[in-house]
Amino acid sequence: MNVAEAKASMPLAASGAELTVVLPTYKERGNVAELVRRLDAALEGIVWEAVFVDDNSPDGTADAVKEIAAADPRVRCIRRIGRRGLAGACIEGMLSSSASYLAVMDADLQHDEKTLPRMLEKLRTGTVDLVAATRYVDGGSAESFSESREKISKLATGLAQRFLGTSLSDPMSGFFMMRRDVFDMVAPRLSPVGFKILLDIATSAEDMRIAEEPYSFGERTAGASKFNAQVGLEFLGLLLSKFSRGLVEPRFIFFAFVGAIGIAINLITLNLAMVVWPLAFGLAKSIATFVSMVSNFLLNNSLTYRDKRLKSWHMLTGFLGFCAIGTIGAVTDIGLATTLYARHEVWWVAGLAGAVMSVLWNYAMSSMFIWRTR
Ligand code: GDD
Ligand code: MN
Repeated sequence: MNVAEAKASMPLAASGAELTVVLPTYKERGNVAELVRRLDAALEGIVWEAVFVDDNSPDGTADAVKEIAAADPRVRCIRRIGRRGLAGACIEGMLSSSASYLAVMDADLQHDEKTLPRMLEKLRTGTVDLVAATRYVDGGSAESFSESREKISKLATGLAQRFLGTSLSDPMSGFFMMRRDVFDMVAPRLSPVGFKILLDIATSAEDMRIAEEPYSFGERTAGASKFNAQVGLEFLGLLLSKFSRGLVEPRFIFFAFVGAIGIAINLITLNLAMVVWPLAFGLAKSIATFVSMVSNFLLNNSLTYRDKRLKSWHMLTGFLGFCAIGTIGAVTDIGLATTLYARHEVWWVAGLAGAVMSVLWNYAMSSMFIWRTR
């Protein structure tokens, strides 16, 4: 389905809220009340609702929102348990809406809510499907960014523009508004991993009409940013996945990356066990394999499947399943490589085919049975 067909099949809402503002939160207790006050002032004359999507913040953000919601029917809270991730939270909040238009903005007061009416104005004309708030055109700014964050943002912007050919001036922005019918259409194509929800949406349909609206990125006064190196890595995953036209999932890139680290850990352990300890090769290799299985499992649990992280005793059963899958993967690897080698005698083609096959197997089975992503 393309954008035009989606719009033809889904009439806009005639009653209820016209605009749903989706607000992802993680440890934002000190910001939510002020945010609702500012939305109330900025959206005067518009029928709106606010959907907070909180990943069970330990500071009690969800309770703070529910307290506001008890007195203000326009405010709702979706509390997600056992899951983490900005993009996934935004997607879930957006899916819960039946309004005509959806906005996504940060809940830490860094996004200027006074931009919202101007964005809505553009959508109401019916000539655009998505309005991205941007810091990088005249009238916008990102002065509150630290120098290093600004460099990272510029680099990521350049990469996205070069590799994905996006025309967005600020593809890293997490502040935008769009038609709900168009979102419902692209939702199944989106990745819940990482921060880059706007970039993901904007590049998910070719005929989407996009406009921009400048704003100034504000200071954070309460709480702290959740941006870290992992978020940066997740961005590279999304970029590669988009660049391959969806053939390679962002998650798979992490899985393969963890696998490569596992090989290094295996070799280092083998070396230590044989040289430093020293043990016989067979025993040393068994220890090396066990250590790399454990490290692969832990890295996948905290990186690749961060949003589905297993905890407490689920980690033990998960690890046992992971080892079982890995064992079958290794048998397939050896079997395929041996068969190919017997036919063609090119050792590296046979070896590579076996290895690729087993990585794909391990990934598919781990996603299906251990972390259950589908
Ligand atoms: N539910 C949920 N789960 N919310 C989250 C999570 C999460 O795992 N991580 C962050 N958030 C919420 C925060 O509570 C905040 O409301 C919003 O998402 C933005 O998070 P920040 O941690 O404040 O991000 P930032 O200010 O460093 O980055 C912002 O600017 C970037 C521009 O380069 C965000 O808007 C990014 O999306 C944007 O790319
Ligand atoms: Mn922020």
